[in-house]
Amino acid sequence: MGEPWRVTVPSLVLAALPACTRSVSAPQDKRLELREQARSILLKHCGECHDPKLKTAVPDALKIFNLGESDWAHRMTDRQLQNAAWRLTEDLVPTRGSDEARPLHVPAEERRLFDNFVTAEQAARR
Ligand code: HEC
Repeated sequence: MGEPWRVTVPSLVLAALPACTRSVSAPQDKRLELREQARSILLKHCGECHDPKLKTAVPDALKIFNLGESDWAHRMTDRQLQNAAWRLTEDLVPTRGSDEARPLHVPAEERRLFDNFVTAEQAARR
Protein backbone atom coordinates (compact mmCIF):
# COMPACT_ATOMS: atom_id res chain seq x y z
CA MET A 1 0.00 0.00 0.00
CA GLY A 2 1.26 3.46 -0.83
CA GLU A 3 0.61 6.61 1.13
CA PRO A 4 -1.41 8.64 -1.36
CA TRP A 5 -1.96 11.68 0.89
CA ARG A 6 1.78 12.26 1.00
CA VAL A 7 1.86 13.16 -2.68
CA THR A 8 -1.50 14.92 -3.03
CA VAL A 9 -0.30 18.17 -1.42
CA PRO A 10 2.61 19.55 -3.40
CA SER A 11 5.01 21.44 -1.20
CA LEU A 12 4.92 24.03 -3.98
CA VAL A 13 1.63 25.24 -2.54
CA LEU A 14 3.34 26.12 0.73
CA ALA A 15 6.43 27.43 -1.01
CA ALA A 16 4.39 29.80 -3.17
CA LEU A 17 2.43 31.36 -0.32
CA PRO A 18 4.94 33.86 1.09
CA ALA A 19 4.89 35.62 -2.29
CA CYS A 20 1.17 36.31 -1.92
CA THR A 21 1.22 37.68 1.61
CA ARG A 22 2.17 41.23 0.66
CA SER A 23 -1.27 42.05 -0.70
CA VAL A 24 -3.21 40.78 2.34
CA SER A 25 -3.13 42.81 5.49
CA ALA A 26 -6.46 42.53 7.31
CA PRO A 27 -6.45 39.99 10.18
CA GLN A 28 -9.40 38.18 8.59
CA ASP A 29 -7.49 37.62 5.33
CA LYS A 30 -4.50 36.45 7.33
CA ARG A 31 -6.65 33.98 9.22
CA LEU A 32 -8.12 32.57 5.98
CA GLU A 33 -4.66 32.24 4.49
CA LEU A 34 -3.40 30.44 7.60
CA ARG A 35 -6.48 28.21 7.49
CA GLU A 36 -5.55 27.06 3.98
CA GLN A 37 -1.95 26.47 5.00
CA ALA A 38 -3.11 24.49 8.03
CA ARG A 39 -5.43 22.46 5.79
CA SER A 40 -2.54 21.51 3.49
CA ILE A 41 -0.48 20.44 6.50
CA LEU A 42 -3.29 18.28 7.91
CA LEU A 43 -4.11 16.79 4.49
CA LYS A 44 -0.52 15.68 4.22
CA HIS A 45 -0.19 14.14 7.70
CA CYS A 46 -3.72 13.35 8.87
CA GLY A 47 -5.75 12.96 5.66
CA GLU A 48 -5.97 9.19 5.93
CA CYS A 49 -8.97 9.58 8.27
CA HIS A 50 -9.85 13.30 8.10
CA ASP A 51 -9.94 13.75 4.27
CA PRO A 52 -13.40 12.81 2.93
CA LYS A 53 -11.90 12.26 -0.55
CA LEU A 54 -9.98 9.22 0.65
CA LYS A 55 -11.64 5.81 0.98
CA THR A 56 -9.94 5.41 4.35
CA ALA A 57 -11.77 8.43 5.84
CA VAL A 58 -13.47 7.67 9.17
CA PRO A 59 -16.94 9.17 9.86
CA ASP A 60 -16.13 9.87 13.53
CA ALA A 61 -12.92 11.64 12.50
CA LEU A 62 -14.79 13.77 9.92
CA LYS A 63 -17.24 14.82 12.63
CA ILE A 64 -14.35 16.43 14.52
CA PHE A 65 -12.86 18.13 11.45
CA ASN A 66 -13.50 17.51 7.78
CA LEU A 67 -10.69 18.71 5.53
CA GLY A 68 -13.09 18.82 2.58
CA GLU A 69 -14.99 21.76 4.14
CA SER A 70 -13.81 25.32 3.52
CA ASP A 71 -14.24 26.24 7.19
CA TRP A 72 -12.84 22.88 8.24
CA ALA A 73 -12.05 23.91 11.85
CA HIS A 74 -15.38 25.47 12.80
CA ARG A 75 -16.66 22.56 14.89
CA MET A 76 -13.40 22.19 16.80
CA THR A 77 -13.18 23.45 20.37
CA ASP A 78 -10.16 25.44 21.54
CA ARG A 79 -8.97 22.32 23.29
CA GLN A 80 -9.26 20.26 20.10
CA LEU A 81 -7.33 22.87 18.12
CA GLN A 82 -4.56 22.73 20.69
CA ASN A 83 -4.73 18.96 20.72
CA ALA A 84 -4.24 18.92 16.95
CA ALA A 85 -1.19 21.20 17.28
CA TRP A 86 0.22 18.88 19.93
CA ARG A 87 -0.36 15.79 17.77
CA LEU A 88 1.73 17.39 15.05
CA THR A 89 4.68 17.45 17.47
CA GLU A 90 4.42 13.70 18.11
CA ASP A 91 6.50 11.15 16.23
CA LEU A 92 3.64 8.69 15.71
CA VAL A 93 0.21 9.03 14.11
CA PRO A 94 -2.56 6.40 14.17
CA THR A 95 -3.18 4.53 10.95
CA ARG A 96 -5.84 2.21 9.58
CA GLY A 97 -3.10 0.06 8.11
CA SER A 98 -1.99 -3.22 9.63
CA ASP A 99 0.07 -1.44 12.32
CA GLU A 100 -1.66 0.73 14.90
CA ALA A 101 0.56 3.71 14.20
CA ARG A 102 3.04 4.94 11.66
CA PRO A 103 5.99 7.30 12.06
CA LEU A 104 5.23 11.00 11.82
CA HIS A 105 7.66 13.82 11.27
CA VAL A 106 6.14 17.25 10.77
CA PRO A 107 8.77 19.84 9.82
CA ALA A 108 9.22 22.72 12.30
CA GLU A 109 8.05 25.27 9.72
CA GLU A 110 4.74 23.43 9.28
CA ARG A 111 4.26 23.20 13.05
CA ARG A 112 4.94 26.93 13.34
CA LEU A 113 2.38 27.71 10.63
CA PHE A 114 -0.18 25.45 12.30
CA ASP A 115 0.37 27.16 15.68
CA ASN A 116 -0.13 30.53 13.97
CA PHE A 117 -3.42 29.28 12.53
CA VAL A 118 -4.60 28.11 15.98
CA THR A 119 -3.74 31.52 17.46
CA ALA A 120 -5.58 33.37 14.66
CA GLU A 121 -8.59 31.05 14.82
CA GLN A 122 -8.90 31.43 18.59
CA ALA A 123 -8.53 35.21 18.36
CA ALA A 124 -11.31 35.35 15.74
CA ARG A 125 -13.66 33.53 18.14
CA ARG A 126 -13.26 35.93 21.03
C1 HEC B 1 -6.33 6.39 11.71
C2 HEC B 1 -7.29 7.46 11.57
C3 HEC B 1 -6.89 8.85 12.04
C4 HEC B 1 -5.77 9.57 11.70
C5 HEC B 1 -4.65 9.19 10.76
C6 HEC B 1 -5.87 10.83 12.41
N1 HEC B 1 -7.03 10.88 13.15
FE1 HEC B 1 -7.66 12.40 14.29
N2 HEC B 1 -9.29 11.32 14.87
C7 HEC B 1 -9.63 10.09 14.35
C8 HEC B 1 -10.92 9.69 14.90
C9 HEC B 1 -11.67 8.39 14.55
C10 HEC B 1 -11.32 10.71 15.77
C11 HEC B 1 -12.63 10.80 16.58
C12 HEC B 1 -12.69 9.85 17.70
C13 HEC B 1 -11.58 10.05 18.66
O1 HEC B 1 -11.45 11.15 19.25
O2 HEC B 1 -10.78 9.12 18.81
C14 HEC B 1 -10.26 11.71 15.74
C15 HEC B 1 -10.26 12.85 16.50
C16 HEC B 1 -9.28 13.83 16.45
C17 HEC B 1 -9.26 15.01 17.31
C18 HEC B 1 -10.24 15.35 18.43
C19 HEC B 1 -9.72 14.74 19.72
C20 HEC B 1 -10.53 15.13 20.93
O3 HEC B 1 -10.02 14.89 22.05
O4 HEC B 1 -11.64 15.65 20.82
C21 HEC B 1 -8.19 15.73 16.92
C22 HEC B 1 -7.75 17.07 17.51
C23 HEC B 1 -7.52 15.00 15.87
N3 HEC B 1 -8.22 13.85 15.61
C24 HEC B 1 -6.39 15.42 15.23
C25 HEC B 1 -5.66 14.66 14.33
C26 HEC B 1 -4.41 15.07 13.76
C27 HEC B 1 -3.72 16.41 14.02
C28 HEC B 1 -3.99 14.05 12.97
C29 HEC B 1 -2.69 13.97 12.18
C30 HEC B 1 -1.47 14.19 12.91
C31 HEC B 1 -4.98 13.00 13.02
N4 HEC B 1 -5.99 13.42 13.87
C32 HEC B 1 -4.92 11.82 12.35
C33 HEC B 1 -8.91 9.34 13.45
C34 HEC B 1 -7.67 9.70 12.94
